[in-house]
Amino acid sequence: MRNLLSLLVSLMLLGGAAGHLAAQTATPVISYNTQFHPTLARRGMVVSQDKHASEAGLEILRMGGNAIDAAVATGFALAVTHPQAGNLGGGGFMLIYLKSEDRVIALDYREMAPRAASRDMFLNAGGDVDNRRARFSMQSSGVPGTVMGLTDAQAKYGALPLSAVMAPAVRLADEGFIMNWALSASLSRYRERLGADPVSLKQYFKADGSPYQQGELFQQPDLAKTLTEIAAKGAAGFYQGWVADRIVETMKSSDGLIRHEDLLNYVAKERDAISGTFRDYSVVAMPPPSSGGVHVVQMLNVLEGWDLKSLGHNSASYIHRLTESMKYAYADRSKYLGDPDFFKVPITALTDKGYAGTIRGKIKLDAATPSTDIAPAPELPDESKDTTHFSTMDAAGNMVSNTYTLNFSYGNGRTVAGAGFLLNNEMDDFSAKPGTPNGFGLIGGVANAIEPGKRPLSSMTPVLLFKDGQPVMATGSPGGSTIITAVLQTVLNVMEFDMNAATATARPRIHHQWFPDRLILEPGHSVDTRLLLAAMGHSVSAVASYNEGERVLGATMTIIRRPDGLIAGSADPRRPGAYAAAY
Ligand code: GLY
Repeated sequence: MRNLLSLLVSLMLLGGAAGHLAAQTATPVISYNTQFHPTLARRGMVVSQDKHASEAGLEILRMGGNAIDAAVATGFALAVTHPQAGNLGGGGFMLIYLKSEDRVIALDYREMAPRAASRDMFLNAGGDVDNRRARFSMQSSGVPGTVMGLTDAQAKYGALPLSAVMAPAVRLADEGFIMNWALSASLSRYRERLGADPVSLKQYFKADGSPYQQGELFQQPDLAKTLTEIAAKGAAGFYQGWVADRIVETMKSSDGLIRHEDLLNYVAKERDAISGTFRDYSVVAMPPPSSGGVHVVQMLNVLEGWDLKSLGHNSASYIHRLTESMKYAYADRSKYLGDPDFFKVPITALTDKGYAGTIRGKIKLDAATPSTDIAPAPELPDESKDTTHFSTMDAAGNMVSNTYTLNFSYGNGRTVAGAGFLLNNEMDDFSAKPGTPNGFGLIGGVANAIEPGKRPLSSMTPVLLFKDGQPVMATGSPGGSTIITAVLQTVLNVMEFDMNAATATARPRIHHQWFPDRLILEPGHSVDTRLLLAAMGHSVSAVASYNEGERVLGATMTIIRRPDGLIAGSADPRRPGAYAAAY
């Protein structure tokens, strides 16, 4: 009844909209809600945080595009329809599996610190971190990598022309789309931050400054011009020419550091993926400057030494083992992880099964070890809020797992004048001062100190799973510091507990990140479990509130290729608007 009412209201509001939107207005508003039930398909699937974006990817699959084309179409569409994290002004990571070559490509398009950045740039006169400057000033922006990443992936591994792949995004920006509840509510929540920047105010709010309501048409003409330029010229349409001029002008209008030279020097990098195993699965994940891949594999190595299944999913004994593994991983993260181009990250040692055995040996099975008693390994064996994820898969078995971000929701809240896109505040992911927590409470050290040209450490964790040499699963999540643990639990739910995509997504999650010494439980864990964990010495906390004030841990977008060849997927129900589109 309520949905019917919403539909009628939106149809009334749209009474004057142009004819080409008639088809959209006929779509019931209920379909903008999370489509959580498992979707089954034969030929292809796209799962993302937004229905328009998933359908943009699906449109490209139907045209004969492959999973990479679909991912690029989805990435550009999210920049239009999910400005909380979908972006042109941010960066991210893409894992691509090419079935015909049986090869994984790990594409790093993380932002880079501009040339004028320096180690102590966010310290005030007293030597403390000025969080406002690190998070909301123009200096908080790193050189954006998304456009280079998406266009590189498309040029090398896509099958269709870029202009075709970007057509849905251009259309969504130019013709507009019907505002859904999720975006309308989010823009209202962030009215103050976005309203502080006159360009963002004009871009995301009505002429009178009020938020668009669910069911209203939302158009972004400046963004459409930028997308059209990129569609015609590729990355040069962003890193050179008038869009680059607008970025530099916007930087200079405040205290921003990005200049033409920084934009021209930006490169996306193909890196060696992190590989691990868990029982008879192969786990392939993103390497540094993502910390996610290293630590998911590290924790899986620790956990593999116990028969988790016999403990029971989400039993206190299982959660205890998960939690203790997380503490050791996040302690090591604080010391050993950074941009591998600037700091030698001991990947092999951290992902070594022997090292995991050492950690396992320290874990008491009946009592929590306080975080103050856990430190990053003094030495390792020698070397021998907001982000969004989408996954795609095609009939041939190609897969893409992509996580990208502006860092916080809407980044630093500043829009590039005349070009219509938001800037990131990814510089806050560096350690502005060793030992001082960043916006996600994460502690870092010299490995992640600010240096010109360096990429800040990330928690984004796109993952691919394989079994018997065959592609099995693509997944990943937003959630800042909680990304790594959300992805860990999702892959364990599939690999250890044999859950399908929907169940693996929906089961309640936990999170611990070493410091603060706090075990966070989502709703859905029993009171008995909570009491047992507290009795073991865990400091059990209320559920998380990292994600735009919602009480959730992560929002995974998962696709599984089943043994019978069917493709099954699930958008996470934790955040409204997510959608699995398939055919
Ligand atoms: N900006 C959050 C992350 O990259 O982990």
